[in-house]
Amino acid sequence: MIAKLKIMAERVLTVGGGGREHAIVDALARAGAEVCAVMKNRNPGIARLAKEVLLAKETDVAKIVHFARELSIGLAIVGPEAPLEAGLSDALRIEGIGVVGPSRRAARMETDKGFARSLLAKHDVPGNLRFGVFDELAPAIEFAKDADFQLAVKPVGLTGGKGVKVEGEQLKDKGETISYIKEVFDRSIGGIGVVLEEKIAGEEFTLQAFVDGTRVVPMPLVQDHKRAFEGDLGPNTGGMGSYSMQDHLLPFVEKEDLAMAMESMRRTVEALRREDCEYRGVLYGQFMLTSKGPRIIEFNARFGDPEAMNVLPLLESNFVDICHGISNGDLSGSNVSFARMATVCKYVVPAGYGLEPKANLPIEVDEKAVAREGARVFYAAVNEDQGRITTSSSRAVGIVGIASDLEGAEASCERALMHVKGEAIYVRHDIGRKEIIDKKVARMRAIRG
Ligand code: AMP
Ligand code: GLY
Repeated sequence: MIAKLKIMAERVLTVGGGGREHAIVDALARAGAEVCAVMKNRNPGIARLAKEVLLAKETDVAKIVHFARELSIGLAIVGPEAPLEAGLSDALRIEGIGVVGPSRRAARMETDKGFARSLLAKHDVPGNLRFGVFDELAPAIEFAKDADFQLAVKPVGLTGGKGVKVEGEQLKDKGETISYIKEVFDRSIGGIGVVLEEKIAGEEFTLQAFVDGTRVVPMPLVQDHKRAFEGDLGPNTGGMGSYSMQDHLLPFVEKEDLAMAMESMRRTVEALRREDCEYRGVLYGQFMLTSKGPRIIEFNARFGDPEAMNVLPLLESNFVDICHGISNGDLSGSNVSFARMATVCKYVVPAGYGLEPKANLPIEVDEKAVAREGARVFYAAVNEDQGRITTSSSRAVGIVGIASDLEGAEASCERALMHVKGEAIYVRHDIGRKEIIDKKVARMRAIRG
């Protein structure tokens, strides 16, 4: 008798219900995985692709570990930062599950800005800034008064991207800077403590990489747009949209700049290893390109949102293999390649997002029509109930145009956006357009001199 060989699809656990996680689940499904998803909202895109769904708090470590054990999960990918801080990666590893996502200690690169800056300084990682870390108010104020440079004020802990304020921008002058430092301590914004660092000027870019503890394998560069309104105005948000180019660089970033940013990433990973905080996961480097080259604004311990939606649809290699490489500490055998295409992602958000968002309104996406325009839909913080999709107070739907160049990708994204219907929704249409990119290139040229 000939035994029938049945190739079982690999079961992979994902945590998170945003646009980033929809892109992760989509890449896993393309790689033939059977996805079991944990999320707090019922993301219709993820729910459709997943075999099992658990609606739960993403920081409920015990519940998630139980779910993973019941389903005999072998591999897990943690999307957002909060579960990393709650120790989910550590708990899953104890169960013998391979995890894409750093340990709680290594995730301090994102969850503790004081730890991150101090580590970079101790190991002389290139691209660091002048800074001070304070867990008491009086010395922080003294540092601010004495500083002969403008400051960025950063609560040490997680604030959902909304706690950082910069002198000359959100903070009018030194007086406002000092008031904000007081407020951070008084209201314990982002935990107890503050990082004060030198304000720098330039254009920002995101470098995401797969990291196996030692090796750092880059993904295409992306530029996110954090400000709520067109022309990069208004309050900072989680990110309104982003673009990437067919050459995997950006219009204002040269190969040499990328090489320097990569060196900062490699040296950071090495520093973590030396501190007994081996890093296995996706490392997100937020850089600002200045007259002195790329400088480090911050690190995140995960894919970016929206940036994951730019790069993952372009991944040509098998994502499950890459995830195994990360979790086993050996990416040497994974050949990682991305299609040489441009992408433009624009987030559809509730009107008032960043200030006073309108929530719980119906939103409809004609997915077939979006696909006909050469674009992709990634659902984010929406809820599905009996086929009806409603918004929440956060970002609703990411639309990603993909084409051989940026102009084509932007046009595809815009055509696709016509197939998203909702009351009180808002999109930053300028993202990926020639006018705003030309301005960025000119600004960078002036800074470089
Ligand atoms: P973060 O939450 O650390 O990404 O900071 C939010 C935004 O504040 C960044 O995207 C930058 O635009 C700005 N920012 C942060 N740190 C600095 C800095 N040292 N100098 C100038 N701008 C900064
Ligand atoms: N796009 C910014 C972030 O993911 O933190």
